[in-house]
Amino acid sequence: MFFESRIFPTIAEMSEAALDEIRRILNDAVSKRNRFSIALAGGHTPAKLYALWAEKYKRETPWDHVHLFFGDERFVPVDDLLSNYRMARQTLIDHVPIPKENVHAMLTNFPSPEKAAEAYEVELRKFFGESAPAFDVQLLGLGIEGHTASLFPGSPALDEQRRWVLAVTAPAEPPQRLTLTPVVLNQGLNTFFLVAGEDKREILTALRSEPQNEQSKYPAGRIRPARGVVWYLDQAAAG
Ligand code: 6PG
Repeated sequence: MFFESRIFPTIAEMSEAALDEIRRILNDAVSKRNRFSIALAGGHTPAKLYALWAEKYKRETPWDHVHLFFGDERFVPVDDLLSNYRMARQTLIDHVPIPKENVHAMLTNFPSPEKAAEAYEVELRKFFGESAPAFDVQLLGLGIEGHTASLFPGSPALDEQRRWVLAVTAPAEPPQRLTLTPVVLNQGLNTFFLVAGEDKREILTALRSEPQNEQSKYPAGRIRPARGVVWYLDQAAAG
């Protein structure tokens, strides 16, 4: 497993470094294409980066040209404590002057997760057109058993060849989730895994020790965009 890793003493320094790189890509994308798209990760790890973004770069970010998407979402109401959208609102979105039409949440006010997944695919097509979305940046986390986004080991979503968004049942709380599929995640222009904490050390070691030329046993290892991935790690996770 080819690993470009950037290791920092703390999650704060890791978040700062990843954010610096995001801002560099953002400014380049806006100057060249007048827009920047990022798929946000859920869970806890990215919260520090989102909060830093709002605290330190609220004024200098060209929010009119920034479009926030999500890599996955739990199928819960938007104000549920487990909602990734809620976490992103609390740490970033509600604190910056981003036009509301630039926030593309995976909405869950649908009768079923399948309908919600279909609706998000329509949202992606509106923005990216008919070819699989290539986000300027996609942020991803890592679960201790190797999941990323809401792609869990053994999930049929790992072998999806056509759909961009799927409703999945995860062995996690809550089980019903929406997730981008590898069809999209393998198109990313810049893919950053953000991994912190000692509990991630074991799965990182397992990923690192996998043979390069074999398909990874772990969903996180199946995300292999042409432009590669960068692993932002804190020392606790890197070991
Ligand atoms: C989610 C995330 C998920 C997350 C990992 C790591 O919706 O839960 O998208 O893939 O990134 O579970 O979560 P932590 O950052 O909380 O360890």
